Amino acid sequence: MCGIFAYLNYNVNRERRYILQVLFNGLRRLEYRGYDSAGISIDDSSSFSADLEAPQSSSSSLSGLSPSLVFRQEGNIESLVKSVYQEVAESEINLEESYSVHAGIAHTRWATHGEPAPRNSHPQTSGPGNEFLVVHNGVVTNYEVLKETLVRHGFTFESETDTEVIPKLAKFVFDKANEEGDQTVTFSQVVLEVMRHLEGAYALIFKSRHYPNELIACKRGSPLLLGVKEFTEDLSNGSAFHDDVFVSKNGQPKELFLSSDANAVVEHTKKVLVIEDGEVVHLKDGGVSILKFDKDKGKHGASLPRVASIQRALSILEMEVEQINKGKYEHYMQKEIHEQPESLTTTMRGRLIRGGSCKAKTVLLGGLKDHLKTIRRSRRIVFIGCGTSYNAALAARPILEELSGIPVTMEIASDLLDRQGPIYREDTAVFVSQSGETADTLNALEYALENGALCVGITNTVGSAIARNTHCGVHINAGCEIGVASTKAYTSQIVVMAMLAIAIGADAISNQERREAIIDGLFDLPNKVREVLKLDQEMKDLAKLLIAEQSLLMFGRGYNYATALEAALKVKEVALMHSEGILAGEMKHGPLALVDENLPILVIATRDGCFSKQQSVIQQLHARKGRLVVMCSKGDAASVSVGGSSRVFEVPQVEDCLQPVVNIVPLQLLAYHLTVLRGFNVDQPRNLAKSVTTE
Ligand code: F6R
Repeated sequence: MCGIFAYLNYNVNRERRYILQVLFNGLRRLEYRGYDSAGISIDDSSSFSADLEAPQSSSSSLSGLSPSLVFRQEGNIESLVKSVYQEVAESEINLEESYSVHAGIAHTRWATHGEPAPRNSHPQTSGPGNEFLVVHNGVVTNYEVLKETLVRHGFTFESETDTEVIPKLAKFVFDKANEEGDQTVTFSQVVLEVMRHLEGAYALIFKSRHYPNELIACKRGSPLLLGVKEFTEDLSNGSAFHDDVFVSKNGQPKELFLSSDANAVVEHTKKVLVIEDGEVVHLKDGGVSILKFDKDKGKHGASLPRVASIQRALSILEMEVEQINKGKYEHYMQKEIHEQPESLTTTMRGRLIRGGSCKAKTVLLGGLKDHLKTIRRSRRIVFIGCGTSYNAALAARPILEELSGIPVTMEIASDLLDRQGPIYREDTAVFVSQSGETADTLNALEYALENGALCVGITNTVGSAIARNTHCGVHINAGCEIGVASTKAYTSQIVVMAMLAIAIGADAISNQERREAIIDGLFDLPNKVREVLKLDQEMKDLAKLLIAEQSLLMFGRGYNYATALEAALKVKEVALMHSEGILAGEMKHGPLALVDENLPILVIATRDGCFSKQQSVIQQLHARKGRLVVMCSKGDAASVSVGGSSRVFEVPQVEDCLQPVVNIVPLQLLAYHLTVLRGFNVDQPRNLAKSVTTE
């Protein structure tokens, strides 16, 4: 949901061509966050360009200040790249020009306010002269009020974005400070003052010709991190740095990267600093200061806010560059489906204890060990999430109820908030989110914290807002998921929640055998997923049969109601085909009316406690001439076939509560092949983006 990126080289000579490449590559890595328009800004040091008119109301002269070039383009990153090089070719911009210090910013957009168009793309500017430039991920909720005020002060707006108020506000603050005689106002002071007026969620990067070769980043709600390459020794050890920065006093050459996520940084450096809410990070003279409002000092009437410095150590990313490449696959979604045996292994690594001769098999979830007793005493466990993450929780719900004996309820994050549904101190609220940044889930977390519930996070993103703001949690360790449609995170989430159920129920002797059977099943699960992946060609053939359909229904129940919902979500979002997951028990209460000889219906009828009921569903659908595709367990094809009119495929059988992990895989493949065959972009589905950081 918008990606922001910046690159600052300090005491390292870099040609403009190289700087552009770094910015474009950064955007390519972030493209899955939004891909309807993009933009960058770099310096034009050649001279004060004639095309930059005088600013609207600046009290300060711009002459001699390095102007900024701004390129903005509708469409994906490659459209931007093409248009930039075209403009360069048609102008006097010299790609070989070298800079020992330079600050560039970049943005890839998922439109929230204003259609995809160059004027609505970022960087958004303070007006003619580009005195302040901003790239933004998030939504400024009070932008209309700010805009009215700025218009009253003579500013004119060219876009429909919420973002445009930010650079204009920066210019307003800067001009005001200068008018009041404060010629020494710093870039960070300007941004802190801007932040004081912003409401909503945002991660921002500022560039200004008043502060050449400096960058400011700040955030509230949306993710942002700083990557640091070539650092002083003590800092590379990860030790804490001192007041007002880790300034490189000796002019140590370095490269600094700001990014919405680690994907765009890891190819340059693994040393990162996760920026926290409310912080302002100032890159200047090779140093990095982290500043925050000093609340006490701020109250005493200073016209610009006073700030306090923060100290924090760098962390080391546990990510490899290979993880973010497609490798031998054509698409990220395809790669991520096929790497599930490995991602599941990583999810379980070190967490399943086989037990010795007299010891029971068990599960160890380090992030929860101090909270298990409280969870066991909960009156209720509430699962909260959106989309695929919600479906994963739904798949795990029965086993959690069974092993814990605690009532488990399900909440779609936005719906919980819309209803202001009851959450109690005695509740354990479990927040499931691949990105750990989804706005609805984060807002629900805030709500649950206010209501005093114990909050548990299940995320794939170390250091994400949900990971940081919950009381405890488990990382799913599925590895970086880049395809917008979630696949491997889904299966790892189910596995983590099955392990959670075992850990919560571990004090009950009565279900020890069941727990051990599930643990055995978990050990073998990657093999079973490897086996089911062999259905790839069969799913491609099935996709060929379904390619021209308008709609596809998925019937599931019990553990696999979630599988039906998740499979339908995949087909909908990537193949752009209507699909609905239906609880088979509800069939007679309405959906049966849809059944005829044309509408394809996929029925999940693998072996578990609901098998005979699903057999009867198949019979009833068949009696209405339903066009059936049935998924069943190995060896059951004959028991589920009806009169030769249905198409059947078999999957390996595993413990009932783990069956959703196996069952979803062929359906992910089906959605993938349907999409490719229908000619749509699998990794960048229409109108969607990964990490939904707006409500
Ligand atoms: C669908 C999909 C979305 C996400 C949802 C929540 O394939 O990926 O439905 O599951 O937007 O995202 P996270 O899990 O990051 O909170």
